Amino acid sequence: MTYYALIPAAGTGSRMGSELPKQYLPLAGQPLIRHAIATLCQMPAIARVFVVLAPDDELWPADSMTDLAPKLGVFRCGGETRALSVANGLRAMAAELGNIDEDWVLVHDAARPCLSVALVEKLIAEVGDDVAGGLLAVPVADTLKRGNESGYVVETVPRDGLWQAQTPQMFRHHLLLDALDFAPQVTDEASAIETLGLAPRLVAADMTNLKVTYPLDLQLAEWILAHRSPA
Ligand code: CTP
Ligand code: MG
Repeated sequence: MTYYALIPAAGTGSRMGSELPKQYLPLAGQPLIRHAIATLCQMPAIARVFVVLAPDDELWPADSMTDLAPKLGVFRCGGETRALSVANGLRAMAAELGNIDEDWVLVHDAARPCLSVALVEKLIAEVGDDVAGGLLAVPVADTLKRGNESGYVVETVPRDGLWQAQTPQMFRHHLLLDALDFAPQVTDEASAIETLGLAPRLVAADMTNLKVTYPLDLQLAEWILAHRSPA
């Protein structure tokens, strides 16, 4: 089986509120996006790693990626939404690689810099050859409240069976492209697969694989990277 990684990085990071898109903010001495790219590139199981940039991106730090160049491919085909960026990236992959219908694509947020090799290995092992693919996720630990617009509790939502979806999310190339064409409004790949009536496999991860969304997340990511035991 062949595995590829696809990293959508065409967002602007509006919730971060910084001038620079969050994927390019400095984190532990490197552009934030470089951490996940380097983790995926170092894995022998992953044949190639592709990044999807916005077509007008002038900030891609090519100079900091030269050591990763043998595995790394860059597509400037980002779309209006994450789902469109991923779908465009999947098409660009097929244009470059030929028929990869049955190969696996691991889609990973550029904004999750603390991804570890161990978690990717666990995902690949536990999804195996499941027809529906799967994703890293964390069981919800907190009590959940639904609030109204005035900031008052409307109800407590039972957390039984609830998971927070992370990335990577891995699916066969043709299935994911079909699903995203069918359901382009989704916010993650698994949701698109679900609209086809399939049930992706949940693979337990942990909160170190956080998504950098707000400024505080950047400090948490810095701490996680600094305190990680060597692989
Ligand atoms: N993404 C993308 N194309 C888009 C929107 C998002 O490739 N049109 C990517 C982001 O670059 C990021 C990932 O999807 O790597 C997850 O999205 P998110 O964390 O929401 O990033 P942004 O959309 O950039 O941030 P925000 O929603 O705060 O603007
Ligand atoms: Mg977004």
